[in-house]
Amino acid sequence: MKKILFLFLAGFIAMSISQQSEAQNVIKTPVPERPAGQTDVLELRTGPLPIVRVAFIGLGMRGPGAVERMTHIEGVEIIALCDVEQKNTEKVNKMLEKRGFPKAQEFYGDTSVWRKVTALPNVDLIYVATDWKSHATIGVQAMKEGKHVAIEVPSAMTMDEIWALVNTSEQTRKHCMQLENCVYDFFELTTLNMVQQGLLGEIVHGEGAYIHGLQPFWNQYWNNWRMDYNRKHRGDLYPTHGFGPVCQAMNIHRGDKLNYLVSVDAKQLSSVNFIKEKTGEEVKDFRNGEHTSTLISTEKGKSILIEHNVNSPRPYSRMYQLTGTKGFANKYPVQGYALEAGEIDPAIAANHENLNAHSFVPDDVRKALMQKYKHPIAKDIEEKAKQVGGHGGMDFIMDYRLIYCLQKGLPLDMDVYDLAEWCSLIPLTEISLDNSSSPVEIPDFTRGAWNKLDGLKFAE
Ligand SMILES: NC(=O)c1ccc[n+]([C@@H]2O[C@H](COP(=O)([O-])OP(=O)(O)OC[C@H]3O[C@@H](n4cnc5c(N)ncnc54)[C@H](O)[C@@H]3O)[C@@H](O)[C@H]2O)c1
Repeated sequence: MKKILFLFLAGFIAMSISQQSEAQNVIKTPVPERPAGQTDVLELRTGPLPIVRVAFIGLGMRGPGAVERMTHIEGVEIIALCDVEQKNTEKVNKMLEKRGFPKAQEFYGDTSVWRKVTALPNVDLIYVATDWKSHATIGVQAMKEGKHVAIEVPSAMTMDEIWALVNTSEQTRKHCMQLENCVYDFFELTTLNMVQQGLLGEIVHGEGAYIHGLQPFWNQYWNNWRMDYNRKHRGDLYPTHGFGPVCQAMNIHRGDKLNYLVSVDAKQLSSVNFIKEKTGEEVKDFRNGEHTSTLISTEKGKSILIEHNVNSPRPYSRMYQLTGTKGFANKYPVQGYALEAGEIDPAIAANHENLNAHSFVPDDVRKALMQKYKHPIAKDIEEKAKQVGGHGGMDFIMDYRLIYCLQKGLPLDMDVYDLAEWCSLIPLTEISLDNSSSPVEIPDFTRGAWNKLDGLKFAE
């Protein structure tokens, strides 16, 4: 009997140890050592640039709008326009002329001509809106040639590219900002302000997504780059719109850090059918799942859910949900807040009895809350942003803030570590999926400085 009990206990202990070591069995990717003499670029300040001279690389569907928006910002000079296709640079120059601006120098002809642009001596900022694969190479070279760089989303696709951008920004002390516009949308800005003022209590869980059926766009991308990338890669290939606003609300690398993720995807049907319908091709090698879900855990014990689906017929959604200890915010499909009893300013709640977090606040209360907690940035620039436009104004706020901070020599709202964290989901979800949804470590891209700053502050 004693022998049986001993064997049972020994087996139990062995099982517990193996479960424990399995739980610790997180896949890790290499973290390059920071070169000697190099320090982090948290809250990087650079010399003020009262006039910011900008060169644009990539003028397909997205780039021309950025050039146009910049013509509405005081103190910007548009120096150069670059694209593989001459018709694209010409078209944008015509827009500049029409708006009464001097023509910019044009660069076109092949996929390497951008190297002449990053080498220009009279440029301060390189603004990149090419396809995903060329982003990081252009960004690294721009900084090496003494320029700040702003790169469309996602700015980097592999861990090597991400680390190259982090290291080059640290080495050169140049800004490297990802052009993540959704953090500047009005609901996100207002909600961030509410969070920072404690209205939602401590945020314990966040959700975000990029759910957008791209069927009307697939055949409009230069060289079919977007479908090709989806065909070749599994994972969340477009995480930043959903992930960025949640990371900001959770102070990622400003008091908390991302620890690890796990991903699960659903089999691909819609895009395979789409290709068959359009071209007759029977695709057998499509890697990207139809719907990819990723769960992330943070050092301070928070959880995040991020979803990606560019395939199924569904209404557009970035989800954007924050669950706090005193309240809840939700953007898609219905914008709303739910708050614990007593958390709402009595003046706002006056006409409603017994408001509590079991239901969304009535519409008039939501509107009054959004007015009261309007973010100072939105207060300053909302009207002009709505006039100039760009996804309802958020694109203009992003460009305006970028130029404002460069002109004043202030830290940018988003640093290279935000870029790294938000883009890291792309390669790391692929690793998780290719390893039966194993947990994968999200590196601390600040290499030890994630707790140095106390929360996110937009410089004034
Ligand atoms: N933030 C947003 O809301 C948003 C919206 C749309 C697109 N985007 C991003 O913007 C980027 C561009 O997307 P798009 O829809 O304009 O794609 P697109 O295919 O319409 O345009 C890409 C352009 O880049 C040019 N190009 C490619 N390689 C080049 C090179 N080496 N040198 C110079 N030019 C080059 C192409 O000729 C093309 O004109 C992507 O990263 C995309 O994810 C972001």
